[in-house]
Amino acid sequence: MNVIVVAAECAPWSKTGGLGDVAGSLPKALAKRGHRVMVVAPRYGNYVEPQDTGVRKTFRVDDHDMEVRYFQAYIDGVDFGRLGSAVSSLTVEFEVVGSNSLSTKVGDILKRMILFCKAAVEVPWHVPCGGVCYGDGNLAFIANDWHTSLLPVYLKAYYRDQGLMKYARSVLVIHNIAHQGRGPVDDFSYVDLPEHYTDLFKLYDPIGGDHFNIFAAGLKTADRVVTVSHGYSWELKTSDGGWGLHGIINDNQWKLRGIVNGIDNKDWNPQFDVHLKSDGYTNYSLETLHTGKAQCKAALQKELGLPVRKDVPVIGFIGRLDPQKGVDLIAEAIPWMMGQDVQLIMLGSGRPDLEQMLRNFENQHNDKIRSWVGFSVKTAHRITAGADILLMPSRFEPCGLNQLYAMAYGTVPVVHAVGGLRDTVKPFDPFNETGLGWTFESAESGKLIHALGNCLLTYREYKKSWEGLQQRGMKQDLSWDNAAQQYEEVLLAAKYQW
Ligand code: GLC
Repeated sequence: MNVIVVAAECAPWSKTGGLGDVAGSLPKALAKRGHRVMVVAPRYGNYVEPQDTGVRKTFRVDDHDMEVRYFQAYIDGVDFGRLGSAVSSLTVEFEVVGSNSLSTKVGDILKRMILFCKAAVEVPWHVPCGGVCYGDGNLAFIANDWHTSLLPVYLKAYYRDQGLMKYARSVLVIHNIAHQGRGPVDDFSYVDLPEHYTDLFKLYDPIGGDHFNIFAAGLKTADRVVTVSHGYSWELKTSDGGWGLHGIINDNQWKLRGIVNGIDNKDWNPQFDVHLKSDGYTNYSLETLHTGKAQCKAALQKELGLPVRKDVPVIGFIGRLDPQKGVDLIAEAIPWMMGQDVQLIMLGSGRPDLEQMLRNFENQHNDKIRSWVGFSVKTAHRITAGADILLMPSRFEPCGLNQLYAMAYGTVPVVHAVGGLRDTVKPFDPFNETGLGWTFESAESGKLIHALGNCLLTYREYKKSWEGLQQRGMKQDLSWDNAAQQYEEVLLAAKYQW
């Protein structure tokens, strides 16, 4: 099958969150199963690769002709397509040097996404891969989140309804339904679709009344919808979890499937991790877990200027500083935590007030807390390796990748039991010595403290149980292979609809 994955970001070129990781890894796993796969993302910087194919196409956005340049590279068995816009007059400018993500752009994101989706649908026609274009046959698009939700709609309106790309199908993946691409009803005029498409985008909201909603249109139009865990697919159907789109999800649940993300086990593997090759860190495996992890822990404490102590539990937190991630719950638990003999290392960036809060914690408890404000891939890897425990008190978490990375590194997760966290972290059962970590049932600091307290007790008093937890985590197959097989089933099911 020819598969085109379309996303607003794609690691390692651009990434603000898990979406970038997924767009970077899922295609490789699908390619390994024998499909020809291309990932298409905006070209945010002057990358050396992918290179200019010389192909130029013009699309109309808001009554202006916009030229798009197509770039391509073939790496690790996958085609990487990049779309750059040469015109900046409409602020539709993907090539902003020095910036690597959508969310750092200024200007009108809606117009950029319109141009991007219009140009992306035609990628199989215009981007020569090994001299040949993908063409229309046996073609499937995988769009991701609201940014590319217009793609299934354009595919239908401009192509299928016109008898073009008749057999191309579309799958829309929900990574986070809280962001939807909302606007006033009048924004419909920008998307440049026939009048009878208006209702697709219209959604009634008890607070704001009727509004324009891109995710709503994508969910209704896509042939299949995937979300990144089973737990989240269930939560999306509830009024709390669906963020206003639960009605649409329920109406379309026949086409919804939950598939838990995998992890890139080349990048995130303690045995080969490139970030553990210097500064006193070391690579380790299940066999060398004990000594390897101890060495990484000492290196982490040293690098961050914390007392180098083997016996003190090191707790890590890695994530966007956003209420979604439950940073405020950690804040509430800090007084209790500081009464314990622990070290806490937090890495993240986001809301300025939360960034400041992290800095204050470090100043107040300099011997126990380190806050790394910003995003550093290297530090994320090192914390994952050097910490004993990873805290993820997210209020909601469609899948979550950091808990998966943690388990692959023998770091025990303590998580709020929602979405993908509930799917992937089976609670520790001390009687049967099963499970992978600790979970708590509601987003309250008291519950977090209770779970973390049990975790710390096990760490200190029950060494054998602790090692069991670490080993079970590391022995899991968390690779993309399994998820890719399920995506393939979805793509095939979408096909047989025609
Ligand atoms: C979003 C979700 C996160 C998920 C990621 C990749 O960032 O918030 O839970 O792991 O997408 O699917």
